Amino acid sequence: MGLLFGFLIFTGFSSFVIYVIRHLLSKHWSWANRLEEEDARGRTVIITGSSRGIGKEAAIEFADRHARVIVTARTLEAAKQTVVDIRRKTFFGEVIPMKLDLGCIQSVKEFYHEIIKSYDTIDILINNAGVLVPSNEIERTADGFETHFGVNHLGHFLLTNLLLPLLKNAENSRIVIVSSGTYQKSKLNFDDLNWEKTKPPPANTNALPHDESEFPLYKISKLANVLFAKELTKRLEGTGVHVYTLCPGNVLTGISRRIKLPLHYYFVYAPLLLLVMKTARQGCQTILYCALSKKCAYESGLMYRNCDLWTSDKYYFPDDILMPIPDKPVKLNDADASRLWDESEKCLQMKFPVV
Ligand SMILES: NC(=O)c1ccc[n+]([C@@H]2O[C@H](COP(=O)([O-])OP(=O)(O)OC[C@H]3O[C@@H](n4cnc5c(N)ncnc54)[C@H](OP(=O)(O)O)[C@@H]3O)[C@@H](O)[C@H]2O)c1
Repeated sequence: MGLLFGFLIFTGFSSFVIYVIRHLLSKHWSWANRLEEEDARGRTVIITGSSRGIGKEAAIEFADRHARVIVTARTLEAAKQTVVDIRRKTFFGEVIPMKLDLGCIQSVKEFYHEIIKSYDTIDILINNAGVLVPSNEIERTADGFETHFGVNHLGHFLLTNLLLPLLKNAENSRIVIVSSGTYQKSKLNFDDLNWEKTKPPPANTNALPHDESEFPLYKISKLANVLFAKELTKRLEGTGVHVYTLCPGNVLTGISRRIKLPLHYYFVYAPLLLLVMKTARQGCQTILYCALSKKCAYESGLMYRNCDLWTSDKYYFPDDILMPIPDKPVKLNDADASRLWDESEKCLQMKFPVV
């Protein structure tokens, strides 16, 4: 009983100290950057994975700026519940729930067919949804793709290509791709993109998501996001559709919920994580920046962090405590970007013509 009481006092006190430090210091931290534009009236926005985390907060922010927001989730019930939650936060904008499971080709196609029934133009597409499953498990989507590759990359590849005519119909439309800085610690294996021959490394239960050797499948899918953006930018040149890639930073969401960590990690790391990780609301700010800011309106094919262009010489405090740039980050090249496009088409058995 005494031990429990002591623990509660300790937890309460440390939470209070962390709250005070965050409150006092965070306005000087790199994530204090915010979007100036307050209005998104007249814009139609699709956000993938808006049932929780960064996507849900982004949906609230867009609605609050009077946008028409199509919130998507794996089930229609989850999407409707998201609308209810959003309406508790803001009465502005139009919020439309729709089912979209990126792990299922049929679902992506059905979503597209529903969209074209009601809309001629889409102004902003946010490819946000993402999964992270333990490294030692090869999990597959309904269509047999390795889950990270299938959901984080292929589902978005298909969705984006299907929606391109609607994005082209809008004036100065934007595609925002939520990747992760961890892509720099990965390498695509073109001989086995779908992990049919290669065995993933055994899970290190003592690792956290930012550890270099961990979660290779997730990191590879985030590299695929960046390469997809690179090729897409090239193909969309001169069309008025702009492409933005971003890393939201270290954000306290449920993304790692399936990773089991030893109990002591929660005690050792929790205070540090609570101190230096962004809230989902802070984490979605770069999405809003890429989607709405006038500052980057004429840019395309670049990577962003903290509402700013991300260049390799920038050090972000406190983000980079948890996400240090590796000594030898992966090199992005045109040949890999183009090959990934071709391989993705082969996987889907569909061809998306050069624009
Ligand atoms: N959190 C971070 O620190 C961090 C850092 C770098 C990058 N990111 C990226 O940020 C994005 C958002 O992540 P988050 O942190 O907000 O994670 P999250 O809280 O787990 O949210 C992920 C969203 O994606 C959805 N999703 C998962 N599988 C899906 C599928 N098959 N079809 C459609 N939607 C699906 C989830 O829906 P359910 O509710 O149905 O699962 C959820 O709405 C991801 O792309 C992630 O890689 C996050």
